Amino acid sequence: MDFQDLLLFPMVLSSVNTKYRHYAFVIVLFFFLNVYLLYSAQNKAQNNEFTPDASAKIPHQPTCNITDELAISAISRATSPTCKAKLQTEACQLKNGTFSEEFPESHCSNHDNQLIDARIGCYLDSKTARVLTEFEYKFPNSNQKSTCRKNCYKAGFLYYGLEYEQECFCGNDVLKNATKVDDVECTAYRCPGDRDEFCGGFNAVEIFRTGLRNKITPLKPKYLSPQEAIPDPPVKILFLLQLNGRNERQVKRFLKSIYLPHHYYYIHVDKRQTYMFKEMEKVAEKVPNIHVTSRRFSSIWGGASLLQAFQQVVRDSLEIEQFKDWDYIFNFSESDFPILPIQDFERLITANKGKSFLASHGYNTGRFIQKQGFEFVFSECDQRMFRIGKRDFPSNLRIDGGSDWVGIHRNLAEYSISDDELPRKLRKTFESVLLPLESFYHTLAFNSKYCDDLMMSNLRLTNWYRKQGCRCASLKEIVDWCGCSPLVFRDDTRNKFEIQKAISKPTYFARKFDSMIDIESIEAAELQSIKPEKLQLSHPTYHFASANIFKSGIDEEKIHFKSLANYALQFSGSTENAARIHRIDALRAHQNSVIEIVMKVETVGGADYEFLIHRKSHFNLAENPEVSGYLLKQIVYGTKFEWKEEICREYMGFVTEKDTLHTRLQWHPTERVKKNGEKTSPEVEFKYRKGAEQLEKTVVKPYDSVFGGQFDSWNVGNRLSNLTTCDDFFVDVFAPSSDSPLATLRFPVYTEHNVKCHVDYLKQFFEIADFCSSEEACKEKIWSSTYPDPKSDIDFGYDEELKMLR
Ligand SMILES: *[C@@H]1O[C@H](CO)[C@@H](O)[C@H](O)[C@H]1NC(C)=O
Ligand SMILES: *[C@@H]1O[C@H](CO)[C@@H](O)[C@H](O)[C@H]1NC(C)=O
Ligand SMILES: *[C@@H]1O[C@H](CO)[C@@H](O)[C@H](O)[C@H]1NC(C)=O
Ligand SMILES: *[C@@H]1O[C@H](CO)[C@@H](O)[C@H](O)[C@H]1NC(C)=O
Ligand SMILES: *[C@@H]1O[C@H](CO)[C@@H](O)[C@H](O)[C@H]1NC(C)=O
Repeated sequence: MDFQDLLLFPMVLSSVNTKYRHYAFVIVLFFFLNVYLLYSAQNKAQNNEFTPDASAKIPHQPTCNITDELAISAISRATSPTCKAKLQTEACQLKNGTFSEEFPESHCSNHDNQLIDARIGCYLDSKTARVLTEFEYKFPNSNQKSTCRKNCYKAGFLYYGLEYEQECFCGNDVLKNATKVDDVECTAYRCPGDRDEFCGGFNAVEIFRTGLRNKITPLKPKYLSPQEAIPDPPVKILFLLQLNGRNERQVKRFLKSIYLPHHYYYIHVDKRQTYMFKEMEKVAEKVPNIHVTSRRFSSIWGGASLLQAFQQVVRDSLEIEQFKDWDYIFNFSESDFPILPIQDFERLITANKGKSFLASHGYNTGRFIQKQGFEFVFSECDQRMFRIGKRDFPSNLRIDGGSDWVGIHRNLAEYSISDDELPRKLRKTFESVLLPLESFYHTLAFNSKYCDDLMMSNLRLTNWYRKQGCRCASLKEIVDWCGCSPLVFRDDTRNKFEIQKAISKPTYFARKFDSMIDIESIEAAELQSIKPEKLQLSHPTYHFASANIFKSGIDEEKIHFKSLANYALQFSGSTENAARIHRIDALRAHQNSVIEIVMKVETVGGADYEFLIHRKSHFNLAENPEVSGYLLKQIVYGTKFEWKEEICREYMGFVTEKDTLHTRLQWHPTERVKKNGEKTSPEVEFKYRKGAEQLEKTVVKPYDSVFGGQFDSWNVGNRLSNLTTCDDFFVDVFAPSSDSPLATLRFPVYTEHNVKCHVDYLKQFFEIADFCSSEEACKEKIWSSTYPDPKSDIDFGYDEELKMLR
């Protein structure tokens, strides 16, 4: 499964005892968050530090009467007894007020103990012109000075004001022409949280200081051109690569573009991605300052384990002898790419040595805190973040956050793993914060002596495209929360990272890139970051992209792979059968070419063959396939569909009884429907049949897609398990209440039971385009998996002359 980054919006449980399917959504969009979604379980045996303590006592009864609806719901949905017990204990702690830590007073230079609760005065207020304008809370049961102060303080405001019993206002300025009134006006109401205090009057607000000295104008870095002198020797950066997927060539290309011999490269590969891990190990053998950690894990979406994992990397790296003198840690994934030279990045960091680079949410912090879900307590277990109740937020904590793509100076990194009171308590508190990485380092810095050592930018550009990235149909059954992800750069978004724009921000890296979706975007980024003379632009494979599908010894060999190998051998004139398949790769030979398959096979007699295989598709479009002003251009099928990018990640076109078949229609609007607000496709009907026998039909509603797509998913196994024949299957697409199809598509279904006739299918759906049968001959084939790919190959290590990995 793929890594996803998410922006979030909470789903709310509609009733207490339902399973995940029945969630209603609260449509609150989270801006600028950036998280991994990892669906799969952690392996408990090898990752004790990231899993809940399995030996926790399991009480039969909770130790208190749990009344909070959120907690009751969470406990009912938890499946393991350990998880239920954990949630019960925490719910009781929340209830009896022992859950939250008391935090020490801030060590930030902007915090002044003398200013806490310093009284400014009683002012006339009005709904239309508030004296404190920036944020407003209502605390019907708990309003009082300390409650209002801590809430305004946590969002970074300088003043707080109490009014009309329940109201708590925050702001950085007192309205200029505000009218002071007699103090007695502000004693009309007693505070609900403390009857000994007064909470303002009707249209009278009593204003105090929170304890923060000044409103902070965030520091932003400025681009430094190669001509500008910088005094120091360059900083040493630890590039942390957190990798997923099988596109190792793109990762190697990324490594080559960010590699300098005096930095460090620490690679973590997701536990499930053995192919990528082995490839990275090979690279690390050739390059001394690249380290691949064998302490691998798969983590939970939005969970506390992500923070623990990151801090584990910090600890580990400090123990590796030749790595431990790094100054900075910056993290990356497989879909990043630099958009300016790495030397420029290094210069900027060196010139700002000591500062940490963190991106802020960029809007009102009070609102950010609410939307981020900070006001709720989350608990991680059963591979889920459960929401168990409202948080009574600790005093003395100034919260901030933004993106979890961070650049952290060593001082802050070491402080974050130390046993000082603040980091220790903060680590504990952030175990119950959703998306902890998006605010942990911000919050730690803002409350410590490092608060002046921040640059509010993470120097990265993310390709948000909310219209496409924020639908979460595919996530709602897996997670309590829902969100948005950035998209891969393509033709229409490539201009976002143009060199002038990158310099003016500045942003040194961008995401996401995926060579299996868009080759030219990576080429454009690469040309901005590496001098063209270092790239072999005219090499025959320069425009190639390829990603591994199967490797023997790592993956399970599917029965239909073997069928395809035997068919290909037959075609080549060999009389032998396949003994084993060495590897299968997906190849895109240039930006607009379709994906081809490259398969390397060993026969029972020990001969090696390599094949280039094309997929053949069978579809008909009606003469004028127009419905309600939309013109149907194409119909394709596949499995492992990614709804966001609208592509199938199974590149070979195999459909088995275990799969969900996805059929995608490509529409173009005609002039008639180009108005604003129209969907990008009409309503249509999909009918599935085996020969003439109808299997199922579905109505597909108009859909909105930035790519003009529309799709239907069909669970193959529901109808076709145990299939013993190689029938012709079809999907017909109809306009509403029409009998003649707009399009018809034929597809195969491969099962273990119909293996005898696989070749019948294979002949119709695949074409052997080329092959070679000796090492010598294969060396000449540019499509061969062994043909050089200089933009990605790392066979020798660092080349001093070329100043590049090669
Ligand atoms: C628990 O609280 C609920 C709701 O307040 C109440 O109805 C119930 O009697 C309580 N049960 C116990 C055992 O205290
Ligand atoms: C609060 O609840 C927790 C969990 O049930 C319990 O262990 C603890 O003793 C309680 N503390 C107080 C002060 O009631
Ligand atoms: C303050 O001045 C503004 C603009 O002059 C005006 O609209 C507003 O009503 C004034 N507020 C008060 C409280 O007088
Ligand atoms: C680093 O990058 C990943 C994406 O690869 C992100 O999800 C993660 O939370 C980031 N931050 C840290 C501190 O690991
Ligand atoms: C498929 O075969 C299994 C046993 O081999 C049987 O239990 C199952 O009911 C069959 N399914 C269908 C749809 O015939």
